[in-house]
Amino acid sequence: MASSPKDKTVSLRTERAKRSGSKTPRAARGSYPTTRLRRNRRADWSRRLICENAVNTDDLIWPIFVIEGERKRTPVAAMPGVERLSVDLAVKAAEEAAALGIPAIALFPNTEPSLRDELASEALNPANLVCRAVRAIKGAVPDIGIICDVALDPYTSHGHDGLIVMGEIDNDRTVEALIMQALVQAEAGADILAPSDMMDGRIGAIRGALEDNNFTSTQILAYAAKYASSFYGPFRDAVGSGAKLKGDKLGYQMDPANGIEALREVALDIEEGADMVMVKPGLAYLDIVWRVKEAFGVPTFAYHTSGEYAMIAAAAERGWLDRDRILMETLMAFKRAGADAVFTYFALAAARLLKT
Ligand code: PBG
Repeated sequence: MASSPKDKTVSLRTERAKRSGSKTPRAARGSYPTTRLRRNRRADWSRRLICENAVNTDDLIWPIFVIEGERKRTPVAAMPGVERLSVDLAVKAAEEAAALGIPAIALFPNTEPSLRDELASEALNPANLVCRAVRAIKGAVPDIGIICDVALDPYTSHGHDGLIVMGEIDNDRTVEALIMQALVQAEAGADILAPSDMMDGRIGAIRGALEDNNFTSTQILAYAAKYASSFYGPFRDAVGSGAKLKGDKLGYQMDPANGIEALREVALDIEEGADMVMVKPGLAYLDIVWRVKEAFGVPTFAYHTSGEYAMIAAAAERGWLDRDRILMETLMAFKRAGADAVFTYFALAAARLLKT
């Protein structure tokens, strides 16, 4: 029998073992040098085989800021590369997103200052800016999912997500308004309603109202664990609520110090009828994403927020970071933590990178 080079290697090793006095070749034992994790990492093909996670265009949700007017675009100061778009241009943007394979967009209106009031009345107007944008996009790009924020901050004169009664954000009065806002958005054709206000009981209230009004297929994405974060600064500028905001949102959004409380929030929102849950902000809260996904196994999204976008964009502008690599690494971190999808202002850029 002809011996193959492989057999020869084995026999040489055996010889060596014999000469060194031991009866049998050394048995593999745990740890180094038996285990050398670098073996699997040596070649590109091998790294591809052992790769645990992947970022896919199907994981991306693109938030778009909408303004009044036609053929109008205005830059968002702290978000280089992000613009507020008039409805006609938002339709074009949605077409572009769909062409790249992005499954869904999220619309955020910058309401005219004259339309903002104490009661957020414009939120309940079926012909408000975001509803008109939903209708226009649905008509032109029927196959892209449309997500609408359910929260009053783009509509209140004080920039808070809730209605103020005697100097306090009134939970139950706010929920009444949120129900109306949700119905108006569902009627306009929003596929997913995303309450981002953090009032208690709003998911159940909105779910009940949707069922009662025959919107049985409208999905609810609960901003379940949303923290009172400083990462939202550029967003508030984008929707025009930042300068108006008096005080902070600590009375309704979560304390960044808390983790267990996030699990309670998520549990309640699932019980109340949420189809998906969100953790927000993103990168600094990946431990929460992981815990939520582990504990509940429901579709879990994360929001790569405006402040996180700003940090990457600013450093990249200065040539301090490689934008494309950082953003793909960031998205991978979300996936590794268990996020099923990520809201990111980099969605278009990421989708383009994934194509090449
Ligand atoms: C509104 C809302 C906010 C964000 C999404 N929806 C701001 C806030 O709660 O103050 C933040 C998004 C971002 O920073 O990118 N309730």
